[in-house]
Amino acid sequence: MIVDPIANPYRPGAGRRPPVLAGRQPLLDSFEVVRQRAETLGEGDRSWILNGRRGVGKTVLLNELWTQVSGRGWISAKVEASWHVPFPVVLAKALVQAMRTATGRHPVPKLRRLLGVFQAFSLKVDPALGLVSLGADVDLVKGVADTGRLGDDLTALLQVLGETSADLGIGTLLLVDELQEAKPDELTAINMAIHQLGQGPTPLPVMLVGAGLPSLPTQLGEATSYAERLYDYRAIGLLDPPSARLALAGPTSDLGVAWEDDAVEAALTRAGGYPYFLQAIGKHVWDSARTSPITLEDVEVGLRFAREELDDGLYRTRWERATPAQRALLRALAVEGGDEPVTMAELAAATGRKKTTDLSVARNELIKKGLVYPPERGFIAFTVPGMGEFILRQE
Ligand SMILES: Nc1ncnc2c1ncn2[C@@H]1O[C@H](COP(=O)(O)OP(=O)(O)O)[C@@H](O)[C@H]1O
Ligand SMILES: [Mg+2]
Repeated sequence: MIVDPIANPYRPGAGRRPPVLAGRQPLLDSFEVVRQRAETLGEGDRSWILNGRRGVGKTVLLNELWTQVSGRGWISAKVEASWHVPFPVVLAKALVQAMRTATGRHPVPKLRRLLGVFQAFSLKVDPALGLVSLGADVDLVKGVADTGRLGDDLTALLQVLGETSADLGIGTLLLVDELQEAKPDELTAINMAIHQLGQGPTPLPVMLVGAGLPSLPTQLGEATSYAERLYDYRAIGLLDPPSARLALAGPTSDLGVAWEDDAVEAALTRAGGYPYFLQAIGKHVWDSARTSPITLEDVEVGLRFAREELDDGLYRTRWERATPAQRALLRALAVEGGDEPVTMAELAAATGRKKTTDLSVARNELIKKGLVYPPERGFIAFTVPGMGEFILRQE
């Protein structure tokens, strides 16, 4: 059996759907319950927050949920929060598309009020966008979601999305990736709107699923104190050993290619259950192999190329974005902690500073650049697994 490069099934890269989505079935199953409750009872559940380091598969999960509901006529929109663009603008843009899809699928009279309220919302946040056709005639509804106070406007918008969805026997799903990038006042507004949704006798079938770095739950909690109980927090982590094995060996066995035992063990040991590594390793081992079964030698060759791919794709650009002072802090973190969190006090000692506040500027800039995050007060850790090991290899 030839191992054909054209048939390579692995997909390293941001948000790319893996050939086998391993270890996430419990999460998909509980979403299935939420979906059915929305469709049969017209009732919404708590919103979710998926938090985890880079490359563990959060974006892939958001895409998966999106596919599940858009096939069933739900109103759904996926956005990426960004420090540079106001959240209502990215949301309105995505919802324009969602409204156009909805007018093509559902009876327009039932959408009338939603379209009118939404168009006023989007005219307020971005006048040009507000003029884009929603696919049906719209009677503008002023004074509901266009006050200019984001918390109130989002609340009103989610309310009408919920009422319309309940009436149509569907739900609304808002997917927000990189939510840690949203500004504090935007997080406050989002929390407020989600909080209001749950207040009626029957919670409306509108759900937000936000994804972000492990610091996201703390950020949401700092925005409003009740955020701790508002969301269902689901930490997305490394895959357990059986799931990692499935992610790596499942795609090949589907194609009739086997692995020798020591070969698959060596690849799994190197990957450490990290989804991005599993895809990169799988891809390069496949390209290094000639015939089935894949041997230990194929793995050894493939691992070298996989490391280069990860260095170029994940680590180097992050490292190059850091100033000399920031690099000194990153290096200390690599030495003291590797992939584990380290206290600022230890890092101050390791870099020869008298006080931890001497590192504050570098620390805050690195957090802003997304290289490190504070897993708890007084600690920092790398956002990407394996970053420490990369840094120790640099001059
Ligand atoms: N459950 C999984 N099983 C196997 N591979 C996965 C899984 N989840 C994600 N991946 C792979 O990991 C990489 C990173 O996924 P991504 O969703 O971009 O991570 P994140 O958004 O958390 O940074 C992609 O190459 C993707 O194919
Ligand atoms: Mg992502």
